[in-house]
Amino acid sequence: MAVSEEAILRSELRWTIVVTGTITVIMVAILYAGIVHHINPPSNIETVDPKTLHLTGEFTEENLGTSIDAGGQITARMVATQFAFQPQCILLPANKRVTLRFASPDVIHGILVTGTNVNTMIVPGYVSQVHTVFTRTGDLLMPCHEYCGLGHSQMWATVRVVPEAEFKPDGSGRALCDAR
Ligand code: CUA
Repeated sequence: MAVSEEAILRSELRWTIVVTGTITVIMVAILYAGIVHHINPPSNIETVDPKTLHLTGEFTEENLGTSIDAGGQITARMVATQFAFQPQCILLPANKRVTLRFASPDVIHGILVTGTNVNTMIVPGYVSQVHTVFTRTGDLLMPCHEYCGLGHSQMWATVRVVPEAEFKPDGSGRALCDAR
C-alpha cells in the first residue's frame, strides 16, 4: 500500500514537534535547576599544577585533612592518587556546612560519599570542590568511582562524621581521624 507524500510530511512534522518539545523540556529543566536551585556541576574551575601538588600550596602533606579557619569555615583537603587517598580518613562535624577539596597528581579519579549527595570527578590540573552538610554521623565509605588503573577497586577512604559537640579541632585549627 502506497503512503501519500502528504502523510509522510505530516508524520515528519509530528515527530519534529515531539523532539523539539522534549529538548525544550530538558533545557528548561537544566536552566531551572541551575538558576533557581543552584544545582550545578561540582567544580569551580580552579587550576592546580599536578607536578608540584605535594611540594607547594594547599595540598602539601601538612595541609591535608580537615581544618577550620579563623572565620569558622571548615574545609577538608584530600589528594586522590593511584591507588589511595591521602589522608585515608577525614573527620567532619554533622549538621555544619563543610567544604571538601580534592586534587589528583596522576590520573582522573572520582569520589562519592555513600548515602550523601557528594559526588565529583577529580581531574589532574583542577581542584574539585564540593559543599555539603552531613546529617548522619558515623563512618561513611568514600570509594573511587572512576576507573583509574589496576588498583582502582582498592582505592577508598572514610569520611568520619561526628556530632558537632565531639568535633574539636586542635590549637592550629586541624582535626584528624587518628587524633581522636
Ligand atoms: Cu582512583 Cu579509581
